[in-house]
Amino acid sequence: MGIVLELKNVSKNYGKVIAADNINIEVDQTEFFSLLGPSGSGKTTMLRIIAGLEEPNEGSQVIINGKDVTHAPPYQRGIGMVFQDFLLFPHKTVAENILFPLKMQGASQKEKDENLKWITHLTQLEGLENRYPYQLSGGQKQRVALARGLVSKPSLLLLDEPLANLDLELRKKMEIEIRRFQIELGIPFIYVTHNQQEALTMSDSIAIMNYGKMEQVGEKFSLYHDPDSQFVASFLGSADSIEAEVASVQDGIATMTFHGKTIQARAHNGLKAGDQAICYIKSERIRMEVEENPDAPCGVVLDKIFKGQYIDYILDIEEGNEIIASSGTLSQIKAKDRISISWDPQVADAFPLPPKDPS
Ligand SMILES: Nc1ncnc2c1ncn2[C@@H]1O[C@H](COP(=O)(O)OP(=O)(O)O)[C@@H](O)[C@H]1O
Ligand SMILES: [Mg+2]
Repeated sequence: MGIVLELKNVSKNYGKVIAADNINIEVDQTEFFSLLGPSGSGKTTMLRIIAGLEEPNEGSQVIINGKDVTHAPPYQRGIGMVFQDFLLFPHKTVAENILFPLKMQGASQKEKDENLKWITHLTQLEGLENRYPYQLSGGQKQRVALARGLVSKPSLLLLDEPLANLDLELRKKMEIEIRRFQIELGIPFIYVTHNQQEALTMSDSIAIMNYGKMEQVGEKFSLYHDPDSQFVASFLGSADSIEAEVASVQDGIATMTFHGKTIQARAHNGLKAGDQAICYIKSERIRMEVEENPDAPCGVVLDKIFKGQYIDYILDIEEGNEIIASSGTLSQIKAKDRISISWDPQVADAFPLPPKDPS
């Protein structure tokens, strides 16, 4: 399949703030691609650069369907956009709202009629064409915003936190719907969110953003299971962290000492014997044994929290290290039980810990 969007060395400064720091991305024809990162990490800036609403620094390149559009105006890029707050015109009907981009392009009545029929069918808005936004539910408003983004049959749809203002139940439903539209249309969606659950549910690929930098990009499974930076290891999923001292590193696995016990994890960033390390393990990867094992980290169950589909165990390990282990609801372990923990070294990640400030 062909590449639809390419960003090459895209940077953007606002004075001293680096909102985009040399970003390189390729997005394929069929891809649902998310930009995921905390607030202020540069996600919206990236979308605005792709859309042509923001001029990137000298040397940046935005390429759509093989054409360099870095200096082309937004309406020549063949892009649709959906914003967080919908931005529907309150005094226009559903049909008028949806058709707005086509009107701006000076489309014929025939094209407007045909595209409206097509998109209201896809987004299940048939019969609501003459209503006003105040006569719609939250989900319907969201679908109008989507329909408007898609009505001109763009080759790429950009979405900036489109579900942020919806309640949880509706958000879950819309996540599935938006993904279904993307598959039916066969065009890439670039989806901005700070919500990792949303990104994991909907995406094929995810780019993790942090202070304008792209920390890691890839297929979602590999990001989740093979983080290659400390930020990604701590940001995705629910990750516990413990500090330990590296005894040796062999075949990519670090063997570390933690309160006199031996633990292991994949070694990253040149971690070597003698280093202090910070080690990340996903909560669902921690195994608990009801018996204390003298060779393994041991501790006590402080609390057991029933979450419906799973249980979170709050553990105090080796006196003073609080971590969370998630387990199936059939687990028999109880609060106050003494336990030992273990994990597969291939699913834990250790990074060098920067030297502590002596002050
Ligand atoms: N128009 C602007 N002028 C000055 N600084 C801006 C402007 N837009 C964004 N920024 C800054 O750029 C950084 C990235 O912002 P943004 O792209 O909105 O992040 P996100 O969408 O991930 O929350 C932030 O530090 C923000 O304050
Ligand atoms: Mg934003």
